[in-house]
Amino acid sequence: MARSVTVVVGTQWGDEGKGKLVDLLSTETDLCMRFQGGGNAGHTVINNYGDFKLHLVPCGIFNPDCMCIMGTGTVVDPQDLLSELANLKQHSVAIDNLFVSDRAHVVMPYHKLLDKVEDDARGVYRVGTTGRGIGPAYTDKVARIGIRFHDLLHESVLRDKLTVVLRHHNALLTHIYNQPPFDEAQILADCLSWGEQLKTRIVDTVPIVRSALHSDKTIILEGQLSAMKDLDWGSYPFVTSSSPTAAGAAVGSGIPPRDIDRIIGVAKAYSTQVGTGPMPTELQDAMGDHLRQLGGEYGATTGRPRRVGWFDTIVTRYVAEINGCTDISITKLDILDTLEEIPVCTAYRYQGELITELPDPVLHDKCEPIYEILPGWQQSTREARSLQDLPRNARAYLERLAELVQVPIHSVGVGPERNQTLII
Ligand code: IMP
Repeated sequence: MARSVTVVVGTQWGDEGKGKLVDLLSTETDLCMRFQGGGNAGHTVINNYGDFKLHLVPCGIFNPDCMCIMGTGTVVDPQDLLSELANLKQHSVAIDNLFVSDRAHVVMPYHKLLDKVEDDARGVYRVGTTGRGIGPAYTDKVARIGIRFHDLLHESVLRDKLTVVLRHHNALLTHIYNQPPFDEAQILADCLSWGEQLKTRIVDTVPIVRSALHSDKTIILEGQLSAMKDLDWGSYPFVTSSSPTAAGAAVGSGIPPRDIDRIIGVAKAYSTQVGTGPMPTELQDAMGDHLRQLGGEYGATTGRPRRVGWFDTIVTRYVAEINGCTDISITKLDILDTLEEIPVCTAYRYQGELITELPDPVLHDKCEPIYEILPGWQQSTREARSLQDLPRNARAYLERLAELVQVPIHSVGVGPERNQTLII
C-alpha cells in the first residue's frame, strides 16, 4: 500500500465520534498517533474486545500490528496511562505497541489540583474544564518549567526541576488558594516509579516517524476536541490549552505538513458541547432533553450532561476551513431517525444583521440561529450498510450538510458498532 498520512479532527466542540472512526480506520493502519491533549479526551470505542472509553491510549491499539504513540504535543498523566493499559490488558488487548514520546509533558498531581482551583477562580470566565490537569500542564510547558517523559528516567535532572517547579506551585497553592503543599520527596518517588514502569515505552519519535514515512506506512494522526476549543481559533477563553487542528497535528506529531494527504473532519448529525462557551443552536427545552437521552449525551470523561443543539453549518464550515478538511464524516445519524423535521442552522442574526461568518465569541454568544427546516425520514437507519440503504430524506439531509459545509462526505455513522459506519 502507498504511504498515506490521514489526520482525524473534530469539527464541532469535541465528542463527535472520532474514536470510533479511528478504531475502524486503524484496522489497516501501521502507526496511530495522538498529537495534542491528554486525559481530557474520552474516545468511545465498541468492538470485539468490549466497550471502551479511551482517555490517553490512541484508538489504533485494537490492531496488534498498529504502533500507537502518545506524541510530543500531548500531556500525559503516567498513573492514568498505567491504569488504562492495565484495563486494556484485562480485556486481552495487546498493549506492547504503545509508546510515549520522550518530549511529551507529564501531567503531575499538582496540575490536577491547580486545574480545579484556577477554574473556580475564573468567575464568569470559568471554562468548565475536565479537571484532568491539562491547562496547568501546558502552562508549565510554555513557562519552561514542565517535566518531560525523558526526565522521568534521569533522577538528578528530575530533582533539580522538581525543586524549582514545586517552589513555585506550592507558594501559589498555599498562599493564593489555601491548599496544602505537595511533598517533594513523595513526588520524586512517584516520578521515579513511573519512569521505571514506563521506561521501555518512552521513545524518541523522530526515527520512528522517519522510518514510517520512508517505508510506505499508513499513518493516522488522531485529534481530540475540535478547532472550536483551539487555543487560537476556538471560543477563547472557553477553550482547551492545545491545538486540535490539522496544523497542530503536524506540530504535535513531528510529521511535516507537506506529508499530510488527507484530513477527515468528524461531525455529529446534530451538535453537542461540554463546558461553557457560545452555542447558538443549543436546545434548552424538551427537545434538547430528548436528543440527549436518545444520543446518550453524557461526558465520557466527567459524566456531565452534554449541551445539545441542532447542526450548525457556520461552525462546521469554519472548522473545516481552518483545518483544510478533504472529507467529512457524519456520525450518529440514527439519533435523528424518529424526528418529523430537522432544523439546520445556516446563518445567524445579530442585532438585526444577517451573519454567515463565525463571529468573535463575545458576539457569537448573542447570535440567534436562522434555520432551514429539512424533512425527517422517520424510520430506522441502524440496519443500513451502504448509502443506498438509507431512506431518501436521510440521504437528502446528508447531501444538504455536505453542500452547506462545502466538504464531501467520507462516511456516515448509524450506530455504535464498527459495522455501523457506512464508508462512501
Ligand atoms: P480542558 O481541556 O480539560 O482544559 O477543558 C477545556 C474545555 O474543553 C472545557 O470546555 C471542557 O469541557 C472541554 N473538553 C476537554 N476535553 C473534552 C473532550 O474530550 N470532549 C468534550 N469536551 C472536552
